[in-house]
Amino acid sequence: MPKLTLDGQEFEVAPGTTILQAALSRGSIVPHYCYHPGLSIAGNCRMCLVEVEKAPKLVIACATPVTDGMVVKSHSERVKTAQAAVMEFLLINHPLDCTICDQAGECRLQEYAVEHGSGRSRYVEPKVLLNKAVDIGRNVMLDQERCIQCSRCVRFCDEVSKTSELAFFQRGSQTMIGVYPGKRLDNPYSGNTVDICPVGALTLKQFRFQTRVWYLKNTPTICAGCARGCNVLVAVGLQNEMWTTRGQFDDGIKRIVPRVNGAVNGHWMCDEGRLSYLDLDKTPRIATAEAPVGTAIEWDVAVARVAAALIPAAKSGRAAAIFSPRQTSESIWAWKQLFASLGTVRTGVRQLAHGKDDAILIRADRGANSAGASFILGEQATEEAVRSAISGGEVDLLIVFGDPLNPADTATLDGATRARVGKLFHVGPFADANARSAELALPVAAWAEEDGSFVNFEGRVQWTRRCHLPRGEGRPGWRVALDVAHAAGVELPAWTSSGEVLDDLADAGGVYGGVSEKGLGLLGMAPAAMTAAGA
Ligand code: SF4
Ligand code: SF4
Ligand code: FES
Repeated sequence: MPKLTLDGQEFEVAPGTTILQAALSRGSIVPHYCYHPGLSIAGNCRMCLVEVEKAPKLVIACATPVTDGMVVKSHSERVKTAQAAVMEFLLINHPLDCTICDQAGECRLQEYAVEHGSGRSRYVEPKVLLNKAVDIGRNVMLDQERCIQCSRCVRFCDEVSKTSELAFFQRGSQTMIGVYPGKRLDNPYSGNTVDICPVGALTLKQFRFQTRVWYLKNTPTICAGCARGCNVLVAVGLQNEMWTTRGQFDDGIKRIVPRVNGAVNGHWMCDEGRLSYLDLDKTPRIATAEAPVGTAIEWDVAVARVAAALIPAAKSGRAAAIFSPRQTSESIWAWKQLFASLGTVRTGVRQLAHGKDDAILIRADRGANSAGASFILGEQATEEAVRSAISGGEVDLLIVFGDPLNPADTATLDGATRARVGKLFHVGPFADANARSAELALPVAAWAEEDGSFVNFEGRVQWTRRCHLPRGEGRPGWRVALDVAHAAGVELPAWTSSGEVLDDLADAGGVYGGVSEKGLGLLGMAPAAMTAAGA
């Protein structure tokens, strides 16, 4: 293994490691723009110049592999002078947009100008003027003047999405980034170009001008859009004082960006998942217990009504429930315990399949927790099985659990099926079509409003977190199950958190054997690790 001395510290690295990778692995800060760990190396920004002993010139750290005995200085006077010169070049034509630029606060150019720039400009000629607001795709806007030509976005489209919409046009100081004539940046992963653009040249239409990034609270969680379970950061607006942009008090989701997990999604996420939060507030929420939807009733009265109807129906085996594959395992587990205590309740899980798996991330199965639901309820527990029992006149009472992410994905009953079910209760966040045809609806937390676990298509268990407060009286599904159990006079464990429900679920073994909230951490547990833990 080659040995490197970086700024006086000696350590070994794996063969083939570049100086930049070695530095980053030790927490050393070597400024860089064009290098991205998920893309090929371009070596075109020259920001990562370092001094290598015995080398006649400075070298770029991102494209220089470590050799045994190499001695590198990343903070010498020569390096600082070169970094200041690179910054001066980059800023020659860059507009003074920081006050109105969405990237401000998380902009590499802004940060490096402060840390490595000279603090003044010697440039007095007019700057090159380019297009400031180019609509290049369904979700992405381009400001050509802000581009520093790092080529990250071009490489993403060439290497990851493999759609090659972007390129540089013209030459010299007139060089500009753009889409090929007749093309649009409409690939299903286009939002990643915005994430990796180190400046504010590429912005997301749905996020631009919505807030300032320093008013965001980021929570690490899991996308509920499909069975992949991409690791993401959900940002909610949390400004305490009304100083600037309107809409800061709403505690609403402002954006979702990917979080690195090499075993699940690498550095990326799809646009459908990125924008899935937009559906959360399109349909009105069920604010409190309502019977029917639109008419509020006392919570205790509502759960007592559900319990009173459920007890005889479960005892006679004529009750059924359709779960959403996006509910947390903890909610599904709690309701299963309640049903088992009352008698027999036929259960089924809704299937949400759209299109087919792609070769990057997207799964045809849009249920983030299909695998967890079928582990808890059994492979036979399908929505079709419940529907056929309804058609056969075997169901007097049905509980439908609403989809926590997209109201359009909640199970609905046609008129004839609805007529066959005597009592229909709805437990979900949205006043969606099923909620409106139910005689009683109980609100629960939507996605990003409760803690819990999902099992992805590979059997990886991951922890999804509450990123902001549930709307109205919404609460985690397992808490609603506890309330109904109490009203029914049934003893369930006195869980006080999702983590405690998970501890009980872990006793069921299988995919959950050895799993705990702490063990899941930020990256979840792989099936192999779980087998070992449960063994
Ligand atoms: Fe780099 Fe952004 Fe310019 Fe693309 S638009 S080349 S990511 S600076
Ligand atoms: Fe979400 Fe699936 Fe897209 Fe990943 S691939 S971001 S899990 S919808
Ligand atoms: Fe090394 Fe750009 S990061 S040249």
